[in-house]
Amino acid sequence: MKECKHLAIIMDCNGRWAKAQGKPRTAGHLVGADNVRTIAIAANEMGIKYLTLYAFSTENWKRSQDEVGYIMKLPSIFFKKYMQEFLDRGFKMNILGELDKLPPATHKVLQDAMDESVNNTGLNLNICMNYGSQREILLAAKHYAQDVLDGKADLSLDEEGFEKYLMTKDFPPVDLLVRTSGELRISNYLLWQIAYAELEFVPESWPEFTPEVLKRCLDEYQNRDRRFGGVKNV
Ligand code: FPP
Repeated sequence: MKECKHLAIIMDCNGRWAKAQGKPRTAGHLVGADNVRTIAIAANEMGIKYLTLYAFSTENWKRSQDEVGYIMKLPSIFFKKYMQEFLDRGFKMNILGELDKLPPATHKVLQDAMDESVNNTGLNLNICMNYGSQREILLAAKHYAQDVLDGKADLSLDEEGFEKYLMTKDFPPVDLLVRTSGELRISNYLLWQIAYAELEFVPESWPEFTPEVLKRCLDEYQNRDRRFGGVKNV
């Protein structure tokens, strides 16, 4: 049995799913947020230790003001509904991204969720909000450069040392990355962390991504031959 400790998901196609049902795009995001709870519980039961979800990218600000405004309100709706249950289940909330650039009310809700669950030792539920991988790597490089200037670091830095500057410093590398809705793109997501991840692209939209689809993804992962650049059976 191949362990899948860290699962990352690009939750795509909320908007198109809603439109196809004659509903506004925001209705898709609300169903999508409810599905975060469903899939977090299922992933936990299937043995995942780290679940990292792409909720809002540094590029998503280009969307209409109405849509962005709605997504910024979602964390409050979401944690009001589910935080107690997450705490009861021992989930630890981590939010990745440039949080200080979010509306202050959104930032506070996210910070509170992290603070309330900081001592939990169960599933790490990581939500990426105003996250972009190139930006994350750039910020890490600047932080490292500053440490060198301050005499706190030198040029002997290696990959493991660099990871300490990333927003994912407390998590292991991604084992499996799933993207919903059939698009074959990575969209500036966890570029460093997926170096040796297995990739799966499923046709279902995020609102249709059920625990059964998750199980199918994990079964497929079991069939993959992970060699990390080495040679088989050595
Ligand atoms: C992608 O679908 C989805 C998003 C950009 C937003 C995802 C947000 C959630 C699922 C809510 C989670 C938030 C919290 C705080 C739990 P899309 O809008 O790009 O869909 P499209 O490809 O059909 O346009």
